[in-house]
Amino acid sequence: MNTGSDNQSTTHYLMHNHAIIAQTSDATLTVEQSLGLSGESQLVGAKNAVLVIIASLILTEGISVLTNVPCSDDVLQMIDLLRDLGAHIIFYADKNTLEVDTRFITSYKVNPIIMKKMRASILVMGPLLARFSRAEIALPGGCAIGDRPIDFHIKNFEKMNVDYTIDGDFLIGVTKKLKPTTLVLEYPSVGATENLMMAAALTSGVTRIINAALEPEVLDLITVLRLMGAHIEILPPATIEIHGVAALLPVKHHVMHDRLEAGALLLAAAVTGGMVSLPQADATLMEVFLLKLQEMGHSLLIGPAGKGITLHATKQPRAVSFATGPYPGFPTDLQASMMAVQCLAEGKSVIHETVFENRFLHVRELQKMGAQITVNGDRVVVTGVDALYGASVIATDIRASCALVLAGLAAKGTTVMTGIHHWKRGYESLEKKLALLGANIILKKTTS
Ligand code: EPZ
Repeated sequence: MNTGSDNQSTTHYLMHNHAIIAQTSDATLTVEQSLGLSGESQLVGAKNAVLVIIASLILTEGISVLTNVPCSDDVLQMIDLLRDLGAHIIFYADKNTLEVDTRFITSYKVNPIIMKKMRASILVMGPLLARFSRAEIALPGGCAIGDRPIDFHIKNFEKMNVDYTIDGDFLIGVTKKLKPTTLVLEYPSVGATENLMMAAALTSGVTRIINAALEPEVLDLITVLRLMGAHIEILPPATIEIHGVAALLPVKHHVMHDRLEAGALLLAAAVTGGMVSLPQADATLMEVFLLKLQEMGHSLLIGPAGKGITLHATKQPRAVSFATGPYPGFPTDLQASMMAVQCLAEGKSVIHETVFENRFLHVRELQKMGAQITVNGDRVVVTGVDALYGASVIATDIRASCALVLAGLAAKGTTVMTGIHHWKRGYESLEKKLALLGANIILKKTTS
């Protein structure tokens, strides 16, 4: 909101944003059947890159500028978190530009309210250990998509000479000196890779992370750390080797575009029989997902070097099966939305979720709309139906909220979705982009 005193048109958030987030939890998204969406959309910056990049700024002492920063609630939470630690931050939301001065960060204790709301808060642990040799975080709340422990983080920080104690529901990590070492991840955890890498960047000596996650968002973080002066090598098949340095410098960085928003927009055109053009989308980051869209019968035009994706939907989509997996496999964050699209495709789709247990909470809501889905452990079988019907549905996590909106766009009648805080956490006004493509979708506040 404008502070009034500014004579520029910039909008920036200087205040805490709890009030903003509280408002949207009393909202609903109303979606009418909207067939044949068509047009061109721009993409916002990637939530799963910018959250960890903001956390990484704790490693520096100075003023950094990030551009292409989405104005979504998780970003506002991460801004709040760093402010609580002492950072001075201005977010020019209408320019998607974030200015972060980390010189005055003095605290290493993470605000428990934010920790409980946003699991990604765990990503400040590595930077705080590197800067203060200490980090105090409230144990993260369980998440809808499984209990999402942090054991990979803790076990490996202990190998870097961090001692942990629990005080109430606070986890306290202390080190006399971080130790370089070789770490083996039993699973290529995105967060654990990022957390350990950030700590290692300021740990003198060589640290190796074997079986590291190499998602595009992890690579964007590596780009930022290298800009700061970190020495990081990626060795095949998936080892990240970090040569620690004494200090890291503030940066200017344009956050990568959100491949998950791109996936949502492509699926919106697919499920409504329309077309969409995404000039900024990078097809090289979404190969398996795009292969599955083509197998359904949708036609894709890809720009030179993979820059730019246009989808023309088929009117007779065929159901496809897929398994989610670490990058470059099918992204788990597009599983729910891809499932919604299979509900109206010809035939059967078997979906195997291998990354998170319990990431099928959207099934119940899709069934309310007439979808034919059976769940069998970590697999579901979707049998395509001729039509879905609008219903009152509840979003259970960020990506489930997107799946239900897509189903609502294709369903006959009206769908009313609650649990909008999930939608606002993960997307910057995606409902406005869908409306520009022809969707009849309205975000309504339910309380004055
Ligand atoms: C990141 O979460 C993303 N979040 C998730 O996106 C994404 O789904 C996930 O990576 C996988 O790609 C952000 O980047 C902020 P993991 P993260 O550690 O780091 C288990 C979204 O909707 N695990 O790779 O938490 C975990 O339970 C979100 O944008 C442990 O067991 O994911 C899961 O089953 C959802 N112990 C698997 O590993 C640990 O210490 C992968 O988790 C850590 C993770």
